[in-house]
Amino acid sequence: MRISVIGCGYVGLVTGTCLAEVGHQVICTDNDPERITALRTGVVPIYEPHLDAMLSANLRSQRLSFTSDAGEAVRAGEVIFICVGTPPLENGEADLSAIDNVAHLIATEACQSKLVVEKSTVPAQTGHQLKRVLDVYRRNGGAEFRVASNPEFLREGTAVEDFLHPDRIVFGVDDEISEKQLREIYRPILERQFRCSVHLSGCPATPPPKLVVTTINSAELIKHASNSFLAMKISYANVIADVCEKVGGDIKEVTRALGLDPRIGPRFLDAGLGFGGFCLPKDVQAFIRLAERSGVDFGMLKEAEKVNKRRIDLFFDKIRQALWVVKDKKVGVLGLAFKANTDDIRFAPSLEVLRRLLAEGAQVRAYDQAAMRRTSAIFPQVHCCREPYEVARGADALLVLTEWEEFRQLDWERVHNLMARPLVIDGRNLLNPAAMIERGFEYYCFGRPPEKLTAVPAPAHVPKVARVSASAPFAA
Ligand code: UGA
Repeated sequence: MRISVIGCGYVGLVTGTCLAEVGHQVICTDNDPERITALRTGVVPIYEPHLDAMLSANLRSQRLSFTSDAGEAVRAGEVIFICVGTPPLENGEADLSAIDNVAHLIATEACQSKLVVEKSTVPAQTGHQLKRVLDVYRRNGGAEFRVASNPEFLREGTAVEDFLHPDRIVFGVDDEISEKQLREIYRPILERQFRCSVHLSGCPATPPPKLVVTTINSAELIKHASNSFLAMKISYANVIADVCEKVGGDIKEVTRALGLDPRIGPRFLDAGLGFGGFCLPKDVQAFIRLAERSGVDFGMLKEAEKVNKRRIDLFFDKIRQALWVVKDKKVGVLGLAFKANTDDIRFAPSLEVLRRLLAEGAQVRAYDQAAMRRTSAIFPQVHCCREPYEVARGADALLVLTEWEEFRQLDWERVHNLMARPLVIDGRNLLNPAAMIERGFEYYCFGRPPEKLTAVPAPAHVPKVARVSASAPFAA
């Protein structure tokens, strides 16, 4: 099938590349001409595992192409995927102006009938507005527009795998032809009939994806409801972590047992600094606003958002209690991206932590294997290091802000020897507390009880720590 993709952000690039990978003819466009020039030569502007190789291979096989001529892209596809951004407005609602612009573009450029598919995350009823704009501004009499919603459930860092091996695919459609066309597009994925270049030695033996066909409104709601539920699940785990600290439980033990109940499931129960990124925080806000506008008070979602905002306060309490005076302290930051395996720092908890550290006069050094360039552009005062050991050298404290596997694997003995004070505050509960304490670190994290953290005696060759706690080291 001939497919056009409008918007070459991470959703558009993954969608376009993966649809080409499974055999379609795909043309992508974006309103940033520099981005298109780079993409044409196979330069991918984002860090997303497998994307570079797959994009280059499909460029070579000429199933995938890029154009800065949006009209050309619109005319080329039988089906057009809208993948433009829907960032939050001041009031938390989604800014739909890019969708509106694309609708005008399609309406004026299309000469033939098209199926227009919303892939961008949008509030319920956007599909109907989109159809109205397409019909009202239609320039060429022969062109009929059908609209469908096909929400994405791609996680940054595993987006290519998520696209090719999804657990579910949702079609929000109002007519049979659109459903048929979408089935045709996704047939290779639904029937697993494509050569998977991600898993060359065999794909994971997961069940085949479930296809869910709904109305357009339901499909739009499914997306917001999914992301909001994940956000609530994380906030729930974070509140349990706070209770663990107060009453002496271990969040890892609690969530492990919780997650073994198949009705709950083990994922998205990792306590720590909370959720960031360009999806969960904005989708939670947009869903709250949508509910409000419809006369529904989504109190529990508001609470989840509040809990999330408080994570940084709690983390900073730990920093302040451990360091006492933050001013002039050498603070090393491990991890800047909003989560591992991405270079994305949008709404990353690290940004607020950096802002507060700098405001209090700390000297900050940082390392992240993918996100330093983007962070330096915002915080030129932060000294970015080429490797994590440089961050540790002479530091009064190390903060773990992203759960990169690389940090778990560090030579922590070496880190210990490099630091002025072997203090680690782990905002992602990434490290093993007992092992850290055994190595002689003062170690703080979220939701692990003091007695557990002090249970392992330090070996003779490392200094014993005076007091180690998941909560307040200098508290009375
Ligand atoms: C999220 C959803 O997971 C995807 O299904 C969805 O398609 C995507 O948004 C989107 O709307 O495009 P993503 O933003 O890539 O994906 O990130 P997540 O993996 O959901 O993580 C979000 C944040 O929650 C990260 O900051 C992560 O560190 C945090 N998190 C995640 C936790 O604090 N605890 C957990 O247990 C899991």
